[in-house]
Amino acid sequence: MATRRRTATTNWASGNNAPDGPTAIDNLQSAKDEYQLVDYVPGLPSSVKTLPRQERFSFFEKVRLGFLLIVLGIGVFIDRFLTRKWDKLSDLLNVYGWIFPKPPTTEIWRDDAFFGRQRLVGVNPFVIRLCTAIPGNMKENVNKGRESLQMVLQQKSGKTDFTLDTAIQENRLFIVDYDILDGMKDEFGICSPIALLLVDAKNELMPIAIQLYQTGENNPIFLPEDPSWLMAKLWFNHADSSYQESFSHLGVTHLLMESVDVVTHRNLTTTHPVYEILAPHFLYLLAINTLARNQLINEHGIVDKTMSIGREGMFEIIRRQLVKWRMDEDGTLPEDLEKRGVVGDGILPGYYYRDDALLVYEAIRKYVHTYIHVYYDDDGNNGKLQVSNDAQIQAWVAALIAKRELVGGGCEIQCESRRHQFPQYEQYGFQPAYPVGMRGTPPQVTNIELTGTAIIKAIPPKVTCLLEMVVMKFLSTQNTRRLGNFTRDSIPFNADDAVKQFREDLRTAAETIEERNITRKYPYQWASPDNIPNSISI
Ligand SMILES: [Fe+2]
Repeated sequence: MATRRRTATTNWASGNNAPDGPTAIDNLQSAKDEYQLVDYVPGLPSSVKTLPRQERFSFFEKVRLGFLLIVLGIGVFIDRFLTRKWDKLSDLLNVYGWIFPKPPTTEIWRDDAFFGRQRLVGVNPFVIRLCTAIPGNMKENVNKGRESLQMVLQQKSGKTDFTLDTAIQENRLFIVDYDILDGMKDEFGICSPIALLLVDAKNELMPIAIQLYQTGENNPIFLPEDPSWLMAKLWFNHADSSYQESFSHLGVTHLLMESVDVVTHRNLTTTHPVYEILAPHFLYLLAINTLARNQLINEHGIVDKTMSIGREGMFEIIRRQLVKWRMDEDGTLPEDLEKRGVVGDGILPGYYYRDDALLVYEAIRKYVHTYIHVYYDDDGNNGKLQVSNDAQIQAWVAALIAKRELVGGGCEIQCESRRHQFPQYEQYGFQPAYPVGMRGTPPQVTNIELTGTAIIKAIPPKVTCLLEMVVMKFLSTQNTRRLGNFTRDSIPFNADDAVKQFREDLRTAAETIEERNITRKYPYQWASPDNIPNSISI
């Protein structure tokens, strides 16, 4: 386990090695030297200054990752030199084979229903919200195109008298609004789009209107029958994927949890109960983030080569969103869903991420609650501790909130497990389905007929796309055990019963999801505990 070594004791109250005993406190002093925080990028969560030796990847893990990179490198070599130049759309399919399997998106990327499902069960199902009113920045366009939009609404709903107001009243209108990206167009080439989506007569979520910028000239509303519609969807997805990789993935999965990891090492002794419950979930987190800083988000690194927004664009998105983001609302699943208006009877069918992740959230919440109450009691009864009297916890919380105002300690495992999903290659492996790089300029009129050549010109060149496929394939592997499947020595002391129950609850959740998938039109496996690793390690 890549964390500081524990010196065995199960006794909280006394002994040299007790959490507040002399040996543990001595070790904590050394930990403060080893785990130092540094601001790698201003405005982002702090990082570890130097990777401590015990946090490095194991020899076995290095060999595994090295072998994987060699195989992917061979795949790129074959694809780069032994397959056709990309002249027409069908040429894009020539790069798939054993090493890079053909993603399912190659067949369905043009479909509106797929675009709708990307918002619900793709890699970024965290943004969609119930639309209760058309946003101010879209009103003018909606009014101008009201007649055409009305036809779309009637066609999708199957009712002649169905209007936008009806959709809002029936809780069937949803929105993804990237106002957070406003003003990033010139420097980073990214739109700040708004998409309206309707739950149609078949209970499928369908996009009905897209506007690519918040404000400005030549900023029309695109509708499904428009010749430019597909290109508008590509630019929307470019904004969505840029946000996903920046904030949902790098920002609040990797970087935010790194600062929690370092702060934990600096403030809790290794025999402290809260350290013990968190430690298994920090495995390789600092190692993978250090690797990312050296190879992915470094200057002129892979992100600069593959994503149009580059690393500076990623940092800008994280900075903008982080000041608004709260752990106790946006980082806590039930509150987040409530805030976005996507819970309640019959609301947003097909939001399988929500339905499945709630099961996992509840299992984790119960586990943490049970475990914590082994040691703590609000009133300090039964010889237990009170949080308010635990100096280490007080120092830990103070350090956590000192910089980013994190609220609600105890949500950490929940946060990492739900944000880190692994259909990345499936989504990103075929660039037109979910591009991280776009060339040229977004459409400014609605009637440009889209050719295959125009799409090839809009996505990055073949060599860049191959590099992106390597990264996504690499990031889609899981290199630690699945959630709750701890090694014997990483089970927190005094937690055997809680862990046993946790595993049972996770198994029940996995079985429920398996059963649900039997009747789902599009089975969804990514929020199942079987596909969630113990830690953020890739
Ligand atoms: Fe990751």
